[in-house]
This record gives sequence, C-alpha cells and structure tokens, in this order.
Amino acid sequence: MAGRRVLVTAGGTREPIDPVRYVGNRSSGKMGHAIAEAACARGAAVTLVTTAGLPAPAGAEVVRVATAAELQRAVEDRFAASDVLVMAAAVADYRPVAAAPSKLKKSGERLVIELEPTVDVLASLAPTKRADQLVVGFAAETDDVLGYAAGKLARKGLDLIVANDVSRADIGFESDANAVTVLAAEGVVCEVPRAPKTVVAARILDVIADRLPRP
Ligand code: CTP
Repeated sequence: MAGRRVLVTAGGTREPIDPVRYVGNRSSGKMGHAIAEAACARGAAVTLVTTAGLPAPAGAEVVRVATAAELQRAVEDRFAASDVLVMAAAVADYRPVAAAPSKLKKSGERLVIELEPTVDVLASLAPTKRADQLVVGFAAETDDVLGYAAGKLARKGLDLIVANDVSRADIGFESDANAVTVLAAEGVVCEVPRAPKTVVAARILDVIADRLPRP
C-alpha cells in the first residue's frame, strides 16, 4: 500500500434537530479509525473523514465533520485524488427538514419531526469511479446480513462490501471487537471471526491490497 492514497470515513453522523439535539446512531468510529491506522502503518497516504472524537491516527490527514452533508462534501472533494475509498461511516439516511434555530421547548403534546432523505454518498460516487480506483462499503445489519450486504454491493456498484452483524452485543457498534465477512461480486472473499478491530482492519486491508489495481 506504500504511496497509495486511501480515503476512509468513520463514525456516525449527527443531524441537528435544534442547537442541543440531533438524530444520530450508535457508530463509535473505532472500525474506521482502525482501518485508517492500519493503512498508515502500511505506508499509504491516508485521509480520514471522521465524526468521532477519537485520536488522529499518526500520519493521517484528518477532516472532522458532523453531518451527512459535511461528510458528503469532504468525500466528494477528495474522491478523485484517491486510489481507495473505504466508507466505514454510518451516514444518516434521513435528516430533519429544518433544524430549529433555538432550543425546542416541551409542550406535553406529541412532537413530530419531519425528516428528509440525505444523499447516498457511496451510491452517488461509485458509478463515477475510474478503473484504477477501488470502492469499499460497509453493511451493518441486524438480520439476513449477507443477503442485504450482497444487495448493497450490487445496487451501489461497489468492488467490496464489509458485512457485520450489529445485533450481537459482543461485536460491532461501540465494541473494541468485530467479526466481518467481506463480499465481492463473485461472493464471499474473506471471513474474519471475532477479533480486536485492529486485527479485523488488517485483514480488510489485506483484501484491499490484493485487489487494488496497479497504478
Ligand atoms: N452510505 C452512504 N451514504 C448514505 C448512507 C450510507 O455513503 N447516505 C454508505 C455507508 O457508509 C456504507 C454503505 O453506504 O458504506 C451502506 O450503508 P447502510 O446504512 O448499511 O446502507 P443503506 O443503503 O443506508 O441501507 P439501509 O439503511 O436501508 O440498510
């Protein structure tokens, strides 16, 4: 991976409801940060676009973002200059139509917050990728993990997808461990049993390095 340009996203986006509240998800950013660290250790030129307050991996350029729109802009600006995009971030699929300018007050009534879809960053960028680029997605699922992951790989036009089961308490969101299956169009490429996220990241990078088109 020496000299290759790797763009990684990490963490869950936060979509503001008002100045003190947001719509979010349980992604901690640990998996994406571990991938960025592992890529740095292999000599890659790494840019990490992250929502997580975790330390910056040594040697990586770090871009801190909060919302899906900020993440989208940061990734779109850097995609063409990257050899690999690894979208480990849990990007919100919906955001409040408008964030209230001041803190909402409770009324005792039901509150309805209208949400609108965000842009699917992967699905919009993958079709624009060049032959020398590799695009990797993540699929965090609670059921039919491999079925949904294979569907996303095909629908979004990805080279690889990393599937993990987020219904298990011992892996995935917030945990320091993970267990994943990496899929390509032809099927399962690699299965990584439960291990620290640093180990899982190294196995994912092995697959990426194997499949990365030569410059
Ligand atoms: N993704 C993205 N932009 C979004 C939503 C998701 O780029 N607005 C990316 C994620 O970073 C991940 C992949 O798409 O790499 C799959 O995300 P996931 O949330 O599992 O899939 P969705 O297409 O949102 O499907 P669903 O939420 O219905 O499972």
